[in-house]
Amino acid sequence: GSPHLNRRGPSLHLEDCSLRELARRHGTPLYVYSRRAMHEALTAYQQALAGRDHLVCYAMKANPSLAVLQTLAAAGCGFDIVSGGELERVLAAGGDPGKVVFSGVGKTAAEMRQALRADVMCFNVESEAELQRLSEVAVSLGRRARVSLRVNPDVDAGTHPYISTGLKGNKFGIAHDRAVAVYAQAAALPGLEVVGIDCHIGSQITQAGPYLDALDRVLDLVEAVEAQGIALHHLDLGGGLGITYDGERPPAIGELVTRLVERIDARGHGHRRILFEPGRSLVGNAGVLVSEVLYLKPGSGPGAKSFCIVDAAMNDLMRPAMYEAWMAIVACEQRDEPAARWEVVGPVCESGDWLGRDRTLAVQAGDHLAVLSAGAYGMSMASNYNSRGRAAEVMVDGDQSWLIRRREQPSELHAHDLLLPPSVVAAG
Ligand code: LLP
Repeated sequence: GSPHLNRRGPSLHLEDCSLRELARRHGTPLYVYSRRAMHEALTAYQQALAGRDHLVCYAMKANPSLAVLQTLAAAGCGFDIVSGGELERVLAAGGDPGKVVFSGVGKTAAEMRQALRADVMCFNVESEAELQRLSEVAVSLGRRARVSLRVNPDVDAGTHPYISTGLKGNKFGIAHDRAVAVYAQAAALPGLEVVGIDCHIGSQITQAGPYLDALDRVLDLVEAVEAQGIALHHLDLGGGLGITYDGERPPAIGELVTRLVERIDARGHGHRRILFEPGRSLVGNAGVLVSEVLYLKPGSGPGAKSFCIVDAAMNDLMRPAMYEAWMAIVACEQRDEPAARWEVVGPVCESGDWLGRDRTLAVQAGDHLAVLSAGAYGMSMASNYNSRGRAAEVMVDGDQSWLIRRREQPSELHAHDLLLPPSVVAAG
């Protein structure tokens, strides 16, 4: 859970702001983020890397809110982007394109042009075909693209199969046994300048072991590539560090980074620039999703389920429906009455629309519930399914709070739709 979540009397606060008050002021569903929690997580990375050349590139897919980007950029953070849209957000938030790495298996030529014109720091290239395309695009603009190859170290990160990316048979990265040959190709292409190496083995990783294994495999490659006369200046160790949703005990940020850096030094690579691409571990525990209880629908008869229907749904927070992810749900106002067991579900017309199953809660209609650790992959994966506007977002710092995204209005949702010509419709 969030380090800044606390209960004062019966009411839950994030930092010094009452979640119930914020819900009253801005309506629900409402995402609320702690600025301090984000700062502290970033600082943990930066402190463990202090004294050496490094850059933390926030994987902004986790939460691309401009105010979040602004907060992290001001603290020296760079960004890991995966689309032209994300690049536009970095620029709109005042981020430095010179601190941007561009990841992803399917960059289009248009996105490559956009990123080259913005002069991003590096492209993390994921295939031989992409290398060729990037070189052509760079040559056509009279530029050279700085590249790093994302290699697939073939280690098992031990996470959910949908978010594990470092195994063979996965669409991500360049196979370990092809990497040296592909570096030779990259070095020979006219539009490219090889600058580094990159790996990312998965997400919500809760042990240091897979990171150390991947690092060893990557350092083996660095040595093999440099033996071919190709210099690699930076090591990008990706993101993926997990957070606590349900009793997981991932290594602390500082502890993991320190262990990795010690291994890098021990193998004689301490002079290299080190990059990380964390998403979840920077923002996940900083956020909560607040919703209002609309109706209680107690089950009748033995074994029947009781439903607590709230105004947040799978379109607001997809993780439980998509990954069967367990996320803590707590009442914003504590009641003294006995608790009961509820299926916490939303209004969307799907049986898979649940936020939590079999949760013990003392609630009444009109109460507010908070889903915890919802700062990462919450709002960023929200959709308009069932023509539901996406939630509003608020940032808090101490006892101050700011609306950082307005709630989407129903009329905005069909603003891009085009009606057929009346003549066509009239003709039947
Ligand atoms: N770098 C690359 C190349 C990535 O693909 C990702 C995440 C990251 C960094 C950041 O990983 P993180 O530190 O956040 O674990 N929607 C899923 C997570 C998908 C992660 C995709 N890639 C979820 O809700 O659990």
